[in-house]
Amino acid sequence: MIITLVILYLIPFPRSKVVVVVYPGLPKCRSGLVLGIYSSEKDEGAAQFTRAGDAFDRLVSGKLRELLCGPPLKKGKTRIFHGLHQDFPSVVIVGLGKKNAGVNDQENWNEGKENIRAAVAVGCRQIQDLEIPCVEVDPCGDAQAAAEGAVLGLHEYNELKQKKKPVVTPQLHGSAESEAWQKGVTYAEGQNLARYLMEAPANYITPIKFAEHIEQKLRSFSNVKVHIRPESWIATQEMGAFLSVAKGSAEPPIFLEIHYLGGANTNDSPLVFVGKGVTFDSGGISLKPSSGMDAMRADMGGAATVCSAIVTAAALNLPLNIIGLAPLCENMPSGKANKPGDVVRAKNGKTIQVDNTDAEGRLLLADALCYAHNFKPRAIVNAATLTGAMDVALGSAATGVFTNSSWLWTHLYEASVLTGDRVWRMPLFEHYKKQVTDCPLADLSNIGKYSRAGGACTAAAFLKEFVTASHWAHLDIAGVMSNKDEVPYLRKGMAGRPTRTLVEFAARLSQDSHNTK
Ligand code: BES
Ligand code: ZN
Ligand code: ZN
Repeated sequence: MIITLVILYLIPFPRSKVVVVVYPGLPKCRSGLVLGIYSSEKDEGAAQFTRAGDAFDRLVSGKLRELLCGPPLKKGKTRIFHGLHQDFPSVVIVGLGKKNAGVNDQENWNEGKENIRAAVAVGCRQIQDLEIPCVEVDPCGDAQAAAEGAVLGLHEYNELKQKKKPVVTPQLHGSAESEAWQKGVTYAEGQNLARYLMEAPANYITPIKFAEHIEQKLRSFSNVKVHIRPESWIATQEMGAFLSVAKGSAEPPIFLEIHYLGGANTNDSPLVFVGKGVTFDSGGISLKPSSGMDAMRADMGGAATVCSAIVTAAALNLPLNIIGLAPLCENMPSGKANKPGDVVRAKNGKTIQVDNTDAEGRLLLADALCYAHNFKPRAIVNAATLTGAMDVALGSAATGVFTNSSWLWTHLYEASVLTGDRVWRMPLFEHYKKQVTDCPLADLSNIGKYSRAGGACTAAAFLKEFVTASHWAHLDIAGVMSNKDEVPYLRKGMAGRPTRTLVEFAARLSQDSHNTK
């Protein structure tokens, strides 16, 4: 049936009422417009519009150019114009920086893409502040980066507040590059899923709630299987290190196992992702100080980012097999909790002296890494908010990567240059191994013998004791767990980093025919 219906919506305006005519099939709501503009190379001369900016300027008979005369708009700075065109009551112009920005090999990222993400995020937030429900976005020559800026920039955890920020739906302005735009939306939604899970309070995201949330996200994919393994299964697997942490809490542990079969053959050897899933880390008997302890609701950031990356890989239909493993539990002090000096036995038979119950992440990961080897993986990549020392070393600039494989490193690094969510290689020297194997009661101690020195490196050396695969990478994401204002296109809060890098990495691996080289 040909659409003849015209639906009239009454949309409340701040002060007046307007009637918006909506033609079904052509979704249109009152829309803002975000356009980029380059700063001229020599800080002078005429404004340099993007293609979309040029086209819009022609549409308004050169009025935009007139309005923008004077010094060029600096990177990230905005000007806003109302009433320029009837379809767009408000237009935000935002500075993109220099026109030909590309890969910056001091910064290890693509500066052009980063500029677009940041500029679009700022522009979209201005539209949101005006309570305009839709925003059309200039692709700025890279629709994927523009979509990422829009979707990441608008995200906020609103779930539990009565007063919420208005929902703004970003759309591509124009019709070119719609595939790249959609890809950017999917990547950014993946990161937003991780942000959501990390930001949510620990009484909302318990181990079982985490698993159910991910299962629900994957329900519609016929090539995905999700297993929510209970405590009894964990016990039959002899995951004694993981169980020793979990037993300190009244909340039962879960071992989440995801199989995404996107490869040409279901038996192609998979990429295995492993994520630390401590839904709250109080420190246990080695209790953390109370100030800032609430941030430890995000100590499942490893599980959140790897599971979100798999949800995204499924949405993109990436042609490879991925298995996701997430040991999920709380680290709490109780009569049943680990005590400093206790010795526990991991799945591979190695014994561990728990010298500090706050170094719990490596205990969960030890067992999960052993289990990962059952799948004959082409690579194992684990992510974990593992050490405060990682934050001390690099802050929020980059995820620390400890890997025994330069092949894996290259793929991770190249992926991160594109996403702007950077990685930095860290050492796995024998030097650190000795500091965890020199232990009075057991094969290993869960802390380095020189206590704080090289804390991120001794934690990585500990994990290595549970790895025999020749392509393994440990990503310590403690430093990038949250954002204050360092990443301009993320609001303050839990960051969901490096989800997009993991997705881009998986996409690259799916194009690499060398399975194990
Ligand atoms: N979850 C923490 C690490 C962490 C700290 C993540 C800050 C994000 C921000 C981890 O379980 C921990 O407490 N590690 C200890 C290890 C130490 C006892 C050897 C640490 O880093 O202090
Ligand atoms: Zn801890
Ligand atoms: Zn922890």
